[in-house]
Amino acid sequence: MDLNERNESMRDFFNRKAAECYDEVHTVFMRTKEMITENLPDDTEKVLDLGAGTGLELIYLFRRFENAKVFAADISENMLAELDKRDFADKVTKIVGDFFTVDLGEGYDAVISSSALHHFLKEDKKRLFDRIYNSLKPGGIFINSDKYANDAQEEAACLADYYENKDARPHIDTPITVEEEAALLEKAGFEIVDIIECDTEYYRLIKAKKA
Ligand SMILES: C[S@@+](CC[C@H](N)C(=O)[O-])C[C@H]1O[C@@H](n2cnc3c(N)ncnc32)[C@H](O)[C@@H]1O
Repeated sequence: MDLNERNESMRDFFNRKAAECYDEVHTVFMRTKEMITENLPDDTEKVLDLGAGTGLELIYLFRRFENAKVFAADISENMLAELDKRDFADKVTKIVGDFFTVDLGEGYDAVISSSALHHFLKEDKKRLFDRIYNSLKPGGIFINSDKYANDAQEEAACLADYYENKDARPHIDTPITVEEEAALLEKAGFEIVDIIECDTEYYRLIKAKKA
């Protein structure tokens, strides 16, 4: 299964998940989403949310930045249809498509992502980080609140599970360690600002700045 096939099966998975009450399953992760907004600079205006889904993290974002211009990129039209039901939906421009290939726009003060990037292999993440870097203004911030492996052994075990079962199970997590992620971000040109523990097991928030 190559990246395109994996993304298509992800689209299919989340299209079905949206109908099965995604939001209820993610109630336990709300603090990890709230922390994104807490870590944005005061003057944040234009934001890109990668894998925005039903828009749970945007609930907090619009509480703090009422007039933000948000662009929500997601491959699942059904997840975005749920976002469309929120009271802030008219402030959000939807980008429907694969964030590896779709035009993401540019000039963002911040790019954010919540729970969306732990399914990708390291080489693919690096490509995505290059795209994120290019979409930000100089000095712009990237915040990823996501699931990470606790150590190299855990990372390797998840990867082994992926290679063994990727054709049978479409949704296999391949989290890397925060150290690996920080190194990939630095390779893409970012400076790491902070790495913060979240109260949910395996979750961390990584904040990086475009030089
Ligand atoms: C676990 S959900 C997270 C949704 C939301 N950010 C949250 O924290 O509740 C992951 C989202 O990423 C989207 N996604 C996964 N792979 C994608 C890709 N290649 N391009 C665009 N969106 C993608 C899925 O459709 C899904 O809506």
